[in-house]
Amino acid sequence: MTDGMVIAVDGPAGTGKSSVSRGLARALGARYLDTGAMYRIVTLAVLRSGIDPADTDAVAAAVDDVDLAVGYDPDEDRSYLAGEDVSTEIRGDAVTSAVSAVSAVPAVRARLVELQRRLSDGPDSVVVEGRDIGTVVLPDADVKIFLTASAEVRAHRRNDQNVANGLADDYATVLADVRRRDHLDSTRAVSPLRAADDALVVDTSEMTETDVVAHLQDLVHQRAGARR
Ligand code: DC
Repeated sequence: MTDGMVIAVDGPAGTGKSSVSRGLARALGARYLDTGAMYRIVTLAVLRSGIDPADTDAVAAAVDDVDLAVGYDPDEDRSYLAGEDVSTEIRGDAVTSAVSAVSAVPAVRARLVELQRRLSDGPDSVVVEGRDIGTVVLPDADVKIFLTASAEVRAHRRNDQNVANGLADDYATVLADVRRRDHLDSTRAVSPLRAADDALVVDTSEMTETDVVAHLQDLVHQRAGARR
């Protein structure tokens, strides 16, 4: 029923975007493409080369040589740098702190957007998760979803995650960071974070993950029905 559909899922961190995108891909039997992982792999390569992530020219010069690959399986989010499995390392603090700077470099975005378009192509349905999928990468996607949630809810979710991971319980600092990043992400010159004009905006503040996946699945099926 959803053969060959391209589904773009965008939105800020803390909206449940990753789990929901994976859950949706699983429910639809679709492939799953995590574009954030690609920015993280390039960031790891930059750090390993000893390049300062703030040195835009050096980052731009390095990006073409990064040999990166990602998996398509929603149950196993695998990332590779020159054949090495770096799935865990790209989620660490070093990469997380540097990835914003690296992903703001136009040459990095140009290379990854081109790669993302190629990887999304094909006969199978695919759920593509990111920040600029519906606006820049795949403006012709069949379904565009933009997930939102209040800054407070996103901060609570992140703080809970931190505590579960053994980090300090510090809601106030996390909330301030969420607000700072929202501002940076929505005002940056290249690919600012915003919903595409034709995106379906879903506020997940009061919804469980299961509810969100079920709701998105309905939206995709409606769109698939309308397409035939
Ligand atoms: O979703 P994530 O936290 O893994 O994303 C990592 C970083 O990459 C984050 O700073 C936003 C950026 N990103 C982006 O600029 N464009 C995308 N399509 C995906 C992620």
